[in-house]
Amino acid sequence: MLNPITMVDITAAELHAAEKIFGDRLELAKRYVEHLATSGTERGLIGPREVPRLWSRHVLNCAVIESVIAHGSHVADVGSGAGLPGLCLAIARPDLELTLIEPLERRVIWLQEVVDDLGLDNVTVMRTRAELAVGNVEADVVTARAVSALTNLAGLTIPLLGGHGEVVAIKGRSAGEEIDKAAKTIRKLGGEDTSVLTVGDNLLEEPTTVVRIVVNKSQKKS
Ligand SMILES: C[S@@+](CC[C@H](N)C(=O)[O-])C[C@H]1O[C@@H](n2cnc3c(N)ncnc32)[C@H](O)[C@@H]1O
Repeated sequence: MLNPITMVDITAAELHAAEKIFGDRLELAKRYVEHLATSGTERGLIGPREVPRLWSRHVLNCAVIESVIAHGSHVADVGSGAGLPGLCLAIARPDLELTLIEPLERRVIWLQEVVDDLGLDNVTVMRTRAELAVGNVEADVVTARAVSALTNLAGLTIPLLGGHGEVVAIKGRSAGEEIDKAAKTIRKLGGEDTSVLTVGDNLLEEPTTVVRIVVNKSQKKS
């Protein structure tokens, strides 16, 4: 059983952003942050030095990408780790169906425990590598953060879309350069349009940079 016991500080600005993003599910988000700060650090899913910035650098930074995901989408989160961004999206958006793809057993066990504790009925945790999930997962949107450089990430994410859809990858300042390097691979895999978006600039001190790849593999159309 997970037993959150510490309170993680949240500034007034972060609380304002969290209220906007999570609405009446803010208590679930707070409980998730407590899990990250306690069992998440104890079991090595998140570094202890990250605890003071769990809200700003991790949970809010991830959760704001909900604004670019269409209502009712099936979202596969590749390399979910401690649920970033997958669990943030599942909490913020109960209309979404989340599949968290993570190969490491101890992370999968922790993710499932948190999902059960929060009572999230829109999440499936899959213990596998993204490459091996192709054919078993057909998502509308594939998300990822801190998994791989875009050239490799394109190969891990685009095949999980059912022919059409979007990859939404959280990236840093090097997003533009990564797109340049990955352009050929993305096109080969069916990427039609790749762009850099900034999300959360009205809510966060440091907005989130996202690479969005719109995919249309016409040969896969039924
Ligand atoms: C640096 S962690 C990032 C975790 C989380 N997304 C975050 O932002 O905190 C990278 C994660 O990707 C997972 N991973 C690595 N290769 C993968 C693959 N081929 N398919 C799925 N997950 C993978 C690792 O097990 C790890 O949990």
